[in-house]
Amino acid sequence: MTPRTIVRAAFAAAVLASVLLTAPAHAQKAGKRVEDLLAKMTLEEKIGQLNLVSGHHAVTGPYTRSDVRSAILKGEAGGLFNVYGAAYTRGLQEMATTQTRLGIPLLLGFDVLHGYRTIFPVPLAQAATFDMAAIEQAERIAATEASAAGVNWIFAPMLDHSRDPRWGRVVESFGESAWLGARIGEARVRGLQGRSLKSPDSVAACAKHFAGNGATEGGREYSGGDISVRAMRDQQLPPFKAAVDAGARCVMAAFNAVDGIPGVANDTLLRDILRREWGFSGVVVSDFGAIEELIVHGVAENPADAGRQALRAGTDIDMESRTFVTQLAALVREGKVLASELDDAVRRILVLKEELGLFDDPFARSSPEREAATVGRADHFQAARAMAEKSMVLLKNDRDTLPFSTKLQRIAVIGPLADGKADTLGPWAANGNPEDATTLLAGVRRVVGDTADVLHATGGTIDRTSPADIAAAVKLAARAEAVILALGERSTMSGESASRSSLDLPGDQLALARAVIALGKPTVVVLFNGRPLTLEDLDREAPAILEAWFPGSEGGLAAARILFGLAEPQGRLPMTFPRSVGQIPIYHDERPTGRPAGQQPKPYTTGYQDVGPTPLYPFGHGLTYTTFFMGPPRLDRPVMAGGETATVSVDVMNTGPRTGTAHVQLYIRHRLARVSRPVKELRGFARITLPPGGVGIVKMPIGEAELAFWQPEGRMAPPEAGRIEVMAGPDSATLKSIILEYRPSGSGRQAQRSGG
Ligand code: GLC
Repeated sequence: MTPRTIVRAAFAAAVLASVLLTAPAHAQKAGKRVEDLLAKMTLEEKIGQLNLVSGHHAVTGPYTRSDVRSAILKGEAGGLFNVYGAAYTRGLQEMATTQTRLGIPLLLGFDVLHGYRTIFPVPLAQAATFDMAAIEQAERIAATEASAAGVNWIFAPMLDHSRDPRWGRVVESFGESAWLGARIGEARVRGLQGRSLKSPDSVAACAKHFAGNGATEGGREYSGGDISVRAMRDQQLPPFKAAVDAGARCVMAAFNAVDGIPGVANDTLLRDILRREWGFSGVVVSDFGAIEELIVHGVAENPADAGRQALRAGTDIDMESRTFVTQLAALVREGKVLASELDDAVRRILVLKEELGLFDDPFARSSPEREAATVGRADHFQAARAMAEKSMVLLKNDRDTLPFSTKLQRIAVIGPLADGKADTLGPWAANGNPEDATTLLAGVRRVVGDTADVLHATGGTIDRTSPADIAAAVKLAARAEAVILALGERSTMSGESASRSSLDLPGDQLALARAVIALGKPTVVVLFNGRPLTLEDLDREAPAILEAWFPGSEGGLAAARILFGLAEPQGRLPMTFPRSVGQIPIYHDERPTGRPAGQQPKPYTTGYQDVGPTPLYPFGHGLTYTTFFMGPPRLDRPVMAGGETATVSVDVMNTGPRTGTAHVQLYIRHRLARVSRPVKELRGFARITLPPGGVGIVKMPIGEAELAFWQPEGRMAPPEAGRIEVMAGPDSATLKSIILEYRPSGSGRQAQRSGG
């Protein structure tokens, strides 16, 4: 052997050794059908299964690089996304199963975030319902409609934890409580995947964006701030863990870097936590183009380096960057990626296709008959309306301005969001048709149009209201007995790539509101928006404010029914509304610091000189059309031993004039632990509907799961022992408390203080 050959052999051995030493644990062998198929596949066919190609029914990224048909025929598409429609998807599955050598059917993915054709309120609004059954039902309907159109994979639930409403994607999230997010993640996975993944009306859920995508810097999209291990373990990861435990078969790796390593190449996240620690056996898909973006992040030298890192870290499917399909063959041949690592990824994809029943019947979901019978069905729209009514939050209602009487003779509906069909649906509206949407103006007309004159003026646009617009609006309002102002954001001001540096009402809407409110008529502002806004000026002047979010296909009717008392406002805020952008981040589960803020700014306490420490509207806030008394929490035991569950009871009385639904929220605080714990954390909620004068008791459990947090030694567990402050009330700022002793060994040992 020449010296050069010796060097080359040594180099190859070194590369192989480095790969073998860090090679992941092999994926479990699959069943016979998958293993037999895998054994037949060529290297190119295997790599083709890792490629995910966008169709043209939606644009969800900066480019589309392949034509779906040519990709299928070249064996370069294991799946497609942004394609739907029974006939169209049937044709694509036929092409894949009859015009390729092995006839492997396609994964067909789509972003169905809050409904497919029947559009439900946006996810942040759904979080405001605190109703897991309703959320699960909404996902079941979404899966039923989307699967009839051939979709077998939905890129949801979005489980990013965020405390910064400047970030446009809070609209897709569960808000600021990771514990609520975990409950919602479970409900969404159950709804999407149904009782059996093989059922034609079930789809594979894909929890996204793993992980830390919501911990933005400055609310800027894709920024992914530095996240401590504790923040990762106590806030970012629990919703994903809950989704994985609920059986989610897919996780989407995020764009952002965690501890400097972008999601698709982060083997700590993908291998150590997701697969080894949590036992996740499903598929990891990259976010749109994220593998190639490793080069832009500066952690990969070129596409080959990017592809190698992503596959080795545990990313199985390349969404649209074409890095795998152009680079992996050479990487395998050069030994820079083990053939077994490629096989593991292909195996997981084939197993998912088998779990979905695609090898048995690739056309089961692309059913024109089922599509015609289920998509946009009337009962689905009714469910969307019911959800919208539960999601809307009555922020303010001075002098019982609301509900309006249905006997009013002349009502003015004014504002740029009064009749905005697309804005009623909101962002990420999948195959929703704006023409289906019942706007607020249409809803008011349906509720009182037969008995009252409904006057309308747009008052300019979302971005611009001229003095003439204001004059016309005031003139119209002057003729009315009551005024409904429809204000807020355009739906495209929320969602991906929709960060805002200001949270004020856009344009001149506040000026429009001030001029109309100055007339002194009974006036309500209905807000259509996808994030907390800064509303301090509006709050000072508007007699009543209803947060409607982007409420979906039936949102305008739901809002109108609430305004006229045919339905009651039941929503509670899943995210804090700050007084100003300067207060951000401001959230309920903050830590106390050594000098906690008082109710007013004080020297040498945390907070600001120029604004108090409280938000405009706290987490959990929401009014009803009646009033309730909530007693202090009572415990069924003063001491909770290990493995036990304590029950918290709260007496509730309807002290107002109308039947109403009270939301009782349960929070805890570890009064003493080895690490500083938040002053309150949501750990339960319950609803009770009572007639005027009615009394009732709500009961909520506290088990060790509710006490758990990331322990300094690196595990999610309850503390050794301690005093737990148990708090209950109508929102996070109005709580009564009691102390629960937690003694796991029953020994009554006080909380151990660690030496370090
Ligand atoms: C987008 C989003 C992601 C979505 C994907 C596919 O970039 O980040 O949430 O699922 O592309 O559309």
